[in-house]
Amino acid sequence: MDPDARATTAGTIAGTTADATTAVDTTAIKDALARYCTGVAVVTALDPADGRPVGMAVQSFSSVSLDPPLVCFCPAHTSTTWPRVRAAGAFAVNVLAADQEDLCRRFAVTGGDKFAGTAWRPGGNGAPLVEGALATVECVLTDVLDGGDHAIALGRVTALTAHRPEAGPLLYFRRGYGRLPSAPSTPDPPASAPPASDPSTSAPSTPAPSTPEPSASGRRLRAASSSSMSASIASARSRSEA
Ligand SMILES: Cc1cc2nc3c(=O)[nH]c(=O)nc-3n(C[C@H](O)[C@H](O)[C@H](O)COP(=O)(O)O)c2cc1C
Repeated sequence: MDPDARATTAGTIAGTTADATTAVDTTAIKDALARYCTGVAVVTALDPADGRPVGMAVQSFSSVSLDPPLVCFCPAHTSTTWPRVRAAGAFAVNVLAADQEDLCRRFAVTGGDKFAGTAWRPGGNGAPLVEGALATVECVLTDVLDGGDHAIALGRVTALTAHRPEAGPLLYFRRGYGRLPSAPSTPDPPASAPPASDPSTSAPSTPAPSTPEPSASGRRLRAASSSSMSASIASARSRSEA
């Protein structure tokens, strides 16, 4: 590799320098990728073996294609829920709202009755649609690709619903939960409008929470300027995701 090109790809995270030509340390991967703030979703299905609802929290949910409508998520091979979702062949993605952190925590551990105290109804494909979610996306599982220690599950969207326009999303950042200072005040654009993510056409969005880096020990975020950024970042959860 051209040494100049290599220099431009190098990066330093907490004293660890990595470039495209060296093996990347797992801790460095986690430290860097944990800085990618995401929403959180719960992927649900009906276990065909016993008809019971199953689910797991994911931050790897992403929209993939509009035509055909495809989404994906990446379940770890260690997940005990994923084989059940795979066997079901159909699933729902429930996009969590800011007030669903407790629910998220229940769906982020193996075992226990994850659905205890959770209101849900079966979607058209049978997968549980969780009450209070910002959006629910029903899918049929179309492909499972190799993703290293995770799988990449592709689903074709068969039904969608959006709810609670006043509510904001649950966020996940550096292994802690957070929320926007306020839900974006701009309404959803009409379906024919350009995508909001196009910076040349979109209105300014709600500014990102102004938060200091959580300390390595406490991992707590405090909103620097907004008292309504309630919380902050809860205690760190050690999980194998970045
Ligand atoms: C915010 C958050 C996001 C997560 N995202 C993923 C993910 O994308 N993929 C994954 O395999 N696990 C993810 N996890 C961990 C799983 O939720 C957890 O391992 C799983 O629920 C364990 O239960 P299971 O054995 O029933 O699958 C995430 C956890 C949290 C708290």
